[in-house]
Formats: sequence, C-alpha cells, structure tokens
Amino acid sequence: MTERTLAIIKPDAVKKNAIGDIIRRYEAASLRPIAIRMTRISKAQAEGFYAVHRQRPFFESLTTFMASGLVVVLVLEGDDAIKRHRDLMGATDPAKADPGTIRAVYGTNIEYNAVHGSDSPDTAKFEIGFFFSEMELGVR
Ligand code: CMP
Repeated sequence: MTERTLAIIKPDAVKKNAIGDIIRRYEAASLRPIAIRMTRISKAQAEGFYAVHRQRPFFESLTTFMASGLVVVLVLEGDDAIKRHRDLMGATDPAKADPGTIRAVYGTNIEYNAVHGSDSPDTAKFEIGFFFSEMELGVR
C-alpha cells in the first residue's frame, strides 16, 4: 500500500555532510521525496513535535539538540513507506542498528541518531501536518 512518512535529517547528520547520501538512500529504495525543506526548528517547535516524549528524562536534551542547527524535513512516499523507512534507518540506538543502516553509519549515540522517521500511520499524519501544508503536498 502506498504510504507517506515524515523523515528528518537531524543537526548531527547535516553537520556530517550526509544530506546527499541520506536522500540518495531514500531514492534508491523507491521512497520518493514529495516535499522537502531545509530549516531550523525552534525549541518550542521541537517540544511540540516530540510532545509524546514530554515525560521522558531525555526530553530537555533531545529538544535542545533538535533546535541546535539546520535540519532537513522531507515527506517520503512509497509502498509500505513507514516500515521500509524505519528499516533503512536502523534501530534508535546506532550501536544496536544493523550494519549499513543510516543510523549505524551516521549516528553518534541514542540521542544524536542522525535521522527521524514516523513510527505509525497516525504519527505520520501528525508529523507531516506539523511541517507541511496541504498546498505544499499538492494533489498527486
Ligand atoms: P527519534 O526517532 O527522533 O524519536 C525520539 C528521539 O528521542 C530518538 O529518535 C532519539 O533521538 C531520542 N531518544 C530516544 N531514546 C533515547 C534515550 N534513551 N536517551 C536519549 N535520547 C533518546
């Protein structure tokens, strides 16, 4: 089934000059970018985006990190996009991610883990709407 998912190339991966390679991996896997923006997330936006993690001990540090530099946000479209994107990313903790996955290659630690991907259809809907308007997503 064709799905859409939200991807974020986080500040650590942008600083490692990995934007091109990460987008190449998406395209090579037939996860087509249908919307893309390079931006900076404010601390307040990061807190809103990660609101489900508000009670977690890493919330303060995670939202500070996400607001610390440029990010690239993308909507990817493709067959079974949510799961296939998560497979490409690898486990949250780069040390546990399968060799060759994006997080294994570019992640630093469980917090500075290079990329984000939606984890379910409901989350994808919320996260895509958080960054992109209907007009930007267009009619396809
Ligand atoms: P992400 O996929 O963006 O979703 C939530 C983020 O919180 C996760 O990637 C990590 O950046 C961060 N995170 C998750 N678990 C931990 C943890 N145990 N310690 C620190 N950061 C974490």
